[in-house]
Amino acid sequence: MLIRHARPSDPRPSELTSRALYMDRRRFIAASGASLAAAALPLPASAALDFETTSHGRGLEVSDREDATRYNNFYEFALDKDGPAEKSGDFKPLPWTVRVGGACHKPGVHDYEDLIRTHRLEERIYRFRCVEAWSMVVPWIGVPLADMIARFEPTGAAKYVAFRTLYDPEVMPMQRSGVLDWPYREGLRMDEALHPLTLMVVGMYGEELPNQNGAPLRLIVPWKYGFKSIKSIVSIDFVEDMPQTTWSMSNPREYGFYANVDPEVDHPRWSQARERRLGDGLFTAKRDTLYLNGYADEVAHLYAGMDRMKLF
Ligand code: MTE
Repeated sequence: MLIRHARPSDPRPSELTSRALYMDRRRFIAASGASLAAAALPLPASAALDFETTSHGRGLEVSDREDATRYNNFYEFALDKDGPAEKSGDFKPLPWTVRVGGACHKPGVHDYEDLIRTHRLEERIYRFRCVEAWSMVVPWIGVPLADMIARFEPTGAAKYVAFRTLYDPEVMPMQRSGVLDWPYREGLRMDEALHPLTLMVVGMYGEELPNQNGAPLRLIVPWKYGFKSIKSIVSIDFVEDMPQTTWSMSNPREYGFYANVDPEVDHPRWSQARERRLGDGLFTAKRDTLYLNGYADEVAHLYAGMDRMKLF
């Protein structure tokens, strides 16, 4: 893996403290060199990445890195929130390949490095909202999925994109259990996949993705509940029919294909109207859930005329 230095960036003085602290950490990484920075980190996170900071999400209060990397869902490693960070240490995400297939002119097997090196990495600060009603704000680093898809030249038959996670029970111990139907699967409608907000993510907080957050590459679809953001992706297929997805296979009454964040569509077992931001104290009031997680201006048109109650 190439080790590159993060470029210094330009936070505005008006930005909030947690962001300022995070930018300081990035400057520290850039100034001290990656090996020292890696030694200073308590987690198996790795090299600094070379990326451009976009204006997206500036001014949002960034969550603590500790919260975002210690409170996870990654069922291949553990079912509780602390488990993925504790139990994914032996997972070696590199070398890594991604197989691309289905309705496209350029199918093939791509080495992760080649896949990423040909694209400009961007940092974007997005809200992230889990179906279990917790949320956070994370500086993700990645490539717009649309840019990556363009190189595979999907054909007119491509109506959906299907993604799969690595299946390797040797290193992902929960895959030896029947708790979900492995490998983890997700999918997007083609227009969702091509939307400029949809990011193929390789890093967070200025560094490569830690294992527990989906190393070496995962999806982030910021207007959907977190389970759509599939981790450790090994295949991308362009398909004509709506693909099966892990959580709707496991419980179709509770989890639909769209999974758009919607305060008015309750989960059958709890309300989705309010959420708890990770890092907020126990006595801090919950926050109102925003329709499409606050990205309605950008993406609501994708769902015009759709019955939100039925197509959840
Ligand atoms: N991807 C895989 N392969 N396995 C999983 O268990 N969990 C999903 C999603 N992607 C999951 C996954 C769920 S339910 C959520 S909320 C997010 O990852 C959590 O992402 P985070 O741990 O980076 O916050």
